Amino acid sequence: MGDNDGKERKFLRRIDDRHNYSTIEHSLDAIIGIDLNGIIKTWNRRAEEIFGYSKDEMISTSVYKLFSNLKDEHSQLEKEMKEKNVIHKHIDTIGLSKNGEKIPVIMRMIAINGEGKVLRFSLVIRNQTEKIRIEEDLKRAHSELVQTEKLSAVGQLAAGMAHELRNPLSIIRSAAQFCLSKFPLQKEVKESFEVIYRNTEDAFRVISDLLEFAKPSEFRFREESISSVLDEAISLSKNKCASQKIEVVRKYIPSLEPLIVIDKRRMQSVFINLILNAVNAMTKGGTITINAFFDENKENLIITFSDTGCGISKENLGKLFEPFFSTTKGGTGLGLAIVQRVITEHRGSINAESEPGRGTTITVKLPAARK
Ligand SMILES: Nc1ncnc2c1ncn2[C@@H]1O[C@H](COP(=O)(O)OP(=O)(O)OP(=O)(O)O)[C@@H](O)[C@H]1O
Ligand SMILES: [Mg+2]
Repeated sequence: MGDNDGKERKFLRRIDDRHNYSTIEHSLDAIIGIDLNGIIKTWNRRAEEIFGYSKDEMISTSVYKLFSNLKDEHSQLEKEMKEKNVIHKHIDTIGLSKNGEKIPVIMRMIAINGEGKVLRFSLVIRNQTEKIRIEEDLKRAHSELVQTEKLSAVGQLAAGMAHELRNPLSIIRSAAQFCLSKFPLQKEVKESFEVIYRNTEDAFRVISDLLEFAKPSEFRFREESISSVLDEAISLSKNKCASQKIEVVRKYIPSLEPLIVIDKRRMQSVFINLILNAVNAMTKGGTITINAFFDENKENLIITFSDTGCGISKENLGKLFEPFFSTTKGGTGLGLAIVQRVITEHRGSINAESEPGRGTTITVKLPAARK
């Protein structure tokens, strides 16, 4: 009878062992067992998936290959756990996978005690990459929404104002033009009328920007060659660049293929806006380098404008695309807000990187084919 009991106990223990093994092996978290020196004793399938190393590669090697920072924390943790009689701890950390990828993880470190002291640790590890990506996407979507809301509120106000101002302005401009053309005027009076005329012209430009911003007309999408649209934008800004001793360097190849579906007029004005912003940032001359290329899978067209200008402070970088944000004398601050909207309308994106004092790079990304 005693014999049978023993057999049954052994049998049950074997079942328990297999049960434990299978639970560990198929866990949705990585489970790594280590001794006090960080030598790996257990390595499950999920650990294999997350870190890219097989069980054979990892058993009997050091866990510090994955978590170099753990080395310092290890003994500290052991002490802490002993003193406070805590058996587990949570750690947010970064692991290193076989292909060198940094993996954000949340780790629960559990002390396994025996004979009154810590003998081993179990590390239960959850990959946070996806979670962090979702949180970031959510944050981005939220800030885009806020930006859109702001744009539409400002847009309505702007449209109303622009409409009201256009008539009186056009009357002022015609009157100034009339006086200039009809009368032999004294030099100072003539100059004053010219000032009035020039400034109403500027005001008209602001108004047409406002209207474009508030109530953009329909987009007309057609297949175009991006290099020729860039060429035209450069040629239209040629005089301005030359007068300010600015050299334009083209890095893109002529007749860049494939063609891309865009609203040519608007895309040209996007490029001119970006070039003029760069010009304004280079008061003492400099270089604008323009590049355009398709990414590896030919899914996106990347266009970059790099200047050697004053750059943009970190604080201002966050406000760049806000309507009416401007540090330029005479600027309305609508340029980049319109640019961003045009790019969004093309299902693309735009971003800015800058080093104050050294220059700025604006990167426009456009999908190669409109879906
Ligand atoms: N390449 C650049 N280098 C440095 N600062 C820049 C650059 N591009 C934009 N900025 C900053 O962003 C601000 C906003 O640019 P945006 O084009 O929207 O308006 P603006 O050029 O001031 O006026 P406008 O409406 O006439 O274009 C600029 O005033 C400037 O401070
Ligand atoms: Mg501008």
